[in-house]
Amino acid sequence: MEDSPPLFAVLFRCDPSLIADSIHALAVDALAAGVRVIGASVDDVLMAVAPLPVMALSEGGDLVQAHIGSLPPARAAMLTGIGADECCAHAARAERLPWPLVNPALGAARADDKAECHALLAAASVPTPRWWLIRRSEIAIATEVGTGIATEVAPTMEGEGEGGRQVVAALSHGPCYILPNSSTEGRGAERFAPHEARLAIVHARRILDTDDCLVREERGTLRCGSDATGHDLRRLALRVHVAWDGVRFVAESGFAQVAGTAEGYVAGRARGCDIVPIGLALQRLWALSPEGPTPFEVSDAEIAAVRCVCEDAAFALAAGLDGGDTLKLVGLDILPELGERGRLRPVVLEANARPAGLNHSTWLPGEVGLGVTRALWSWVRACPRSGLRRRSPQPLRTVDPVSHTRPSVRPCRRP
Ligand SMILES: Nc1ncnc2c1ncn2[C@@H]1O[C@H](COP(=O)(O)OP(=O)(O)O)[C@@H](O)[C@H]1O
Ligand SMILES: [Mg+2]
Repeated sequence: MEDSPPLFAVLFRCDPSLIADSIHALAVDALAAGVRVIGASVDDVLMAVAPLPVMALSEGGDLVQAHIGSLPPARAAMLTGIGADECCAHAARAERLPWPLVNPALGAARADDKAECHALLAAASVPTPRWWLIRRSEIAIATEVGTGIATEVAPTMEGEGEGGRQVVAALSHGPCYILPNSSTEGRGAERFAPHEARLAIVHARRILDTDDCLVREERGTLRCGSDATGHDLRRLALRVHVAWDGVRFVAESGFAQVAGTAEGYVAGRARGCDIVPIGLALQRLWALSPEGPTPFEVSDAEIAAVRCVCEDAAFALAAGLDGGDTLKLVGLDILPELGERGRLRPVVLEANARPAGLNHSTWLPGEVGLGVTRALWSWVRACPRSGLRRRSPQPLRTVDPVSHTRPSVRPCRRP
């Protein structure tokens, strides 16, 4: 029997109120594409709770709560709103779900590992900051602070492939960001100027108590102005949503995360950033120069370049994975900077496998209005209808029954 319309499940593990806005945004997008979205707790679904509490669009277009006997057969699903221990929680649940996932465990693990993400981007020549990873498992912490980061925290590092002295070297070239390798929403990210090596070491040591430590060169020279005057310029990161339509990756929508204060250096949700429409942020860019800030006008070609870099980035993250293991919707953080010949260069900072704040998303410039994705629903409609099976005694591996091939179409070239 045909399911009409095709069903897409958004599965979460947080308080429903925290995720309702994102589910609403996806449900409204999907409606226009003939796909029905239902939100449900992933643990309720896996435990076959009956009746099952769900969120769905009402006839009037509101997201309402209801109870249904069990989740009807769906085409595909997405894990989101997974909570503090999100990487492990994601993997543990993904492998037990029977549907093709927008964010299957392998693809999500790549995005969750910031250093691996940098490596995949760099291998595909996608602009990304230089980085160094200090592995927790390999540290040999000296007893005294201040003996130099090489002996202090890191006998081995990756990224540039050299030892801990690279951190001191990186700081000597310019400011760096030091953060937990699996950080989210800006937690634990701090910026250090070249003269702050000692503070940088202390911060790295703290991170290493619980996580691997990532060191990155600072990128993103453009700033966002709060008005037309050029006063109150703030750091920003663009969030761009890229979706897989079954054939290619398409950069479609996003928003901008703008630091909460003029001094603020982290544009992250847990750090009090402002969310600004992406089109507005792109109209308010300023370049810093010795003569003072100058307005930076973004051309259509530069917007096309942002799209292409994002599509290249999504493709790079899929490298070597089976089609069933790749991310079908990814939120990329982009640092805009002044590139060659005064043009905008988008630098890809990181990838989010469970992009949050989808209700703030608008179509990329060229189109107006709220929206997350159209491309994704083509892929969802092409997935076969399947129901929830009981868990087999052997752990299930997520296998995409639809696409056994890797994404094979190169996205467009950067202009
Ligand atoms: N190398 C960098 N250059 C400039 N800003 C950075 C850099 N690294 C981190 N940031 C800032 O910190 C924020 C959080 O870093 P990010 O990698 O996005 O981690 P999270 O997963 O916690 O969001 C970014 O949005 C950006 O504002
Ligand atoms: Mg981020």
